[in-house]
Amino acid sequence: MDRLPSIEQAEAYLSEAGRLNPGKWVDHSGYVARAAQAIGREHPDIDAGKAYALGLIHDVGRRVGMRHIVEGYKLLNEEGFPDAARICLTHSFPGKVVAFDFPKWDCSEGECTLVRNFLSETDYNAYDRLLQLGDALGTAAGYCLMEKRMIDAAIRHAGEWDASQQFAKWTATFSIKEEMEKAIGCSIYQLLPGVVETTFEFSPGRIDS
Ligand SMILES: [Fe+2]
Repeated sequence: MDRLPSIEQAEAYLSEAGRLNPGKWVDHSGYVARAAQAIGREHPDIDAGKAYALGLIHDVGRRVGMRHIVEGYKLLNEEGFPDAARICLTHSFPGKVVAFDFPKWDCSEGECTLVRNFLSETDYNAYDRLLQLGDALGTAAGYCLMEKRMIDAAIRHAGEWDASQQFAKWTATFSIKEEMEKAIGCSIYQLLPGVVETTFEFSPGRIDS
């Protein structure tokens, strides 16, 4: 994981993307970055600075609105950062579970094939799993109990997702949490300031990322 933007470059990508498509997703990206950094600091195999940069750019494809998974992947590959590009794609697929129907997705058939092929050919590394976890923890307002964020997303996307696939994705995310906590020796929530306040002051609809 060396072909990554620096923190300064990642900040510049996020700020440019936020200018092109402003939204709560920008604040969400900041919290995902800080969650990944906090967990990364305690993890023996993770560099916290790289984790932070990856959190900043994981949703950078939202610069053009939706289809952000593929857009972020293409953008960072073109910029010469394949190890960051992969995060734009892998962060959406814990356990490699595809919880939505590709035909309902606003990507071309070729882009859907690209995603399918990438997932089948790629072994996830610690950073892929860290950002899958971080994405479940960061809202636009702070850090959140991930079960709460999952339910909010499920309500927002009701009808779009296959429920059994969604449960499989959640199960994979819980496994990542367990794996990370074993590696860092504490609850991830001990590393996320304000998680109690954010979780219990939460109101549906506040997150749009
Ligand atoms: Fe995200």
